This record gives sequence, structure tokens and C-alpha cells, in this order.
Amino acid sequence: MENIIEIKSLVKKFGDFTAVSDININIKKGEIFGLLGPNGAGKSTTINMILGLLAPTSGKIIVNGTDMQKEPEKARNEIGIVTQETVVEPELTGEQNLMIFGRLYHIPTSELQKGIDFALKLADLTAFKDAYAGTYSGGMKRRLETAKSLMHAPKILLLDEPTTGLDIQNRSKIWDVLREINKNQNVTILLTTQYLEEADQLCNRIGIIDHGKMIALGTPTELRQKIGTGSVIEVSADKEDLQKVAAVFKKAGLEPKILTNKVVASGGSKGTEKIEALVKAISASKITIHNISMHEPTIDDVFLKLTGSEVRDTTGDYQGGRGMMMRRGR
Ligand SMILES: Nc1ncnc2c1ncn2[C@@H]1O[C@H](COP(=O)(O)OP(=O)(O)O)[C@@H](O)[C@H]1O
Ligand SMILES: [Mg+2]
Repeated sequence: MENIIEIKSLVKKFGDFTAVSDININIKKGEIFGLLGPNGAGKSTTINMILGLLAPTSGKIIVNGTDMQKEPEKARNEIGIVTQETVVEPELTGEQNLMIFGRLYHIPTSELQKGIDFALKLADLTAFKDAYAGTYSGGMKRRLETAKSLMHAPKILLLDEPTTGLDIQNRSKIWDVLREINKNQNVTILLTTQYLEEADQLCNRIGIIDHGKMIALGTPTELRQKIGTGSVIEVSADKEDLQKVAAVFKKAGLEPKILTNKVVASGGSKGTEKIEALVKAISASKITIHNISMHEPTIDDVFLKLTGSEVRDTTGDYQGGRGMMMRRGR
């Protein structure tokens, strides 16, 4: 398949600090590609270089055959962008917001209304076009942002954390809009996210980025296969008991890994038998545990396996991958 964006050995340094370190990605025409990583991973820095807003320290970005450094205007024209901040004018209606934006982008007057109607429809905002943007919900504001970026009918849409902070209903509404744009308008989508579930459900391929480095790249299924087949078993307990819990894991024939507030191991294909053995061994050991569970491998488990560190927060209220953000726990 044809590459619509090629990112080659991309590096960005801020002084001595390397924010993006030798990133290579080929984004194929028609795909939804997700750059997944915790806060500070280097996602926005990468996106800003692809947009030509930030000059790479080294490396190359080719957008639809055009070198971003050599012909930035031409390359940028191929791209619609939704930034991390929402910039809608609350005192204007949805339609007026788009009108102003279209003028800023020099969309010819003859095409402006058509572009607006098209964008409103794609973002599923036609029914609300005459309402003041200030009255829109968070999700509708994000959709208005997306609509703005679609008015000039770009081939590529770049979105930097389009759903961060939105609740699950609004998030899935945005996913629907993006799927629709991707499928029916043939727009290639590159988005960044901290949500495991978003990457998993929405994206054809995912690049996991951490400390500026791409640590894994593949389809959600390929990534999950990296940790082997079968399920992941986890037992949470008080911190001071985790060593003892790990010893019990070993007795049950499992290879434990101790995390902040729990012990995890891959159950392999015999997860159910292993968990039964583990429950018995734990009861015999008289260690007090808080919870024992088994789940299908998630992208989070992949991250753990590849980096050896957790991405979830350390408060311990993590209950499995759904809607969980990537936050680094130390
Ligand atoms: N202009 C800058 N000057 C110095 N450091 C920066 C600058 N922009 C980003 N960084 C640093 O680069 C790293 C990656 O940032 P960023 O790309 O914003 O991460 P993400 O979008 O994944 O949260 C962070 O450690 C951030 O503090
Ligand atoms: Mg960011």
C-alpha cells in the first residue's frame, strides 16, 4: 500500500534533552494510525514536526510525496489538523466559527458555504449549526474543531489527543465521526492518544511511544501477540506482602513480575488451571490479598513487557484496560 506520510529517523532535541529519538513510521493511505504514549512521551513534538510547526533536529518527513522541509506550504496543504487545545469562539454559532476559520484559511468565498456544510455534516453538527458554540458540550466543541480542519477537504487529518478529558460517550461519538471521515471521505488519520482503549478500538495500527522512542509498532492484534498467547493473571496485595505473593506465583509455576501494588504473570494457554493452583497456594500461605483476577492481554500489558514499567497511575484504582489513560507510575 502507498505511504502517505513517511517519517524517517526523526529526532528533536531541546538543548541536551532528546524529546523525539529516531522515530520511523510509514503511514499508509487510508489507515487510522495511532501514536500511543503517556504524557511527555513526545507525541505532540512529533505531530508538530509533521505539521511543519517545529523544525526537526534531524530526519525527514515526506507528506504525500512532498518533503516538509523543502516545500512546507505544499506539504501542509495536504493536512487538516486538530490541536490539543480547543479554540472555538463561544459567542459565535457553530457555523460562524467555521466561516471565520475558512476565511483565515483563504478558502474562496464561492466554496466556503459548501465547505462549511460538508464539515458540519461530517462532524454531525448540522442540527446545531445555529447554536452558540459556548453552549456546546465538550464533545461537540471537539467535533467543531474537527469540522474546522475538514473544510479544505484534506487528504490527511492529524489529531493531537482529540478525546483527552472527554467522557466515554463523547469519546465514542468522536470515534464514529473519525471512522466515517476515514471510510467515506478516504481521509488518512494520524492521531495521538493516551487511551489504550482508543488505540485498540479505533486504530488499524498503533505505534507505542515512550521517552521519545518508538518501542512497538503494529496492529492491535500484533501488539497483543507480543506478550504471548493466553491471559494475564494479577494479584494485588499490600506492598510489604508483594515479595511473598511473588514467591507463591513461582510455586504455582508462574513467572511473576512485581509492580507498584500487585504481582502479575502471563498465564499462558493454561491460565485457568494456573489461577486455580495460585488460589490454592495463596490460601495455604495465609497472605492477605486484595484481589485476584485474570484478563486478556491489553496494550498496557504490552507496554509493561516492553519497558518493564507500569504506565498506569500509582493510586491502585486501576481495574483493567477500559478507558484507562497511560500515566506513568513511579
Ligand atoms: N519547547 C520545549 N522545550 C523543552 N522541552 C520540551 C519542549 N516541548 C516539549 N518538551 C519536552 O519534550 C517531552 C515531550 O513532550 P511532548 O511532545 O509534549 O509529549 P506528549 O505530547 O507525548 O505529552 C516532554 O518531556 C516535554 O517536557
Ligand atoms: Mg501532547
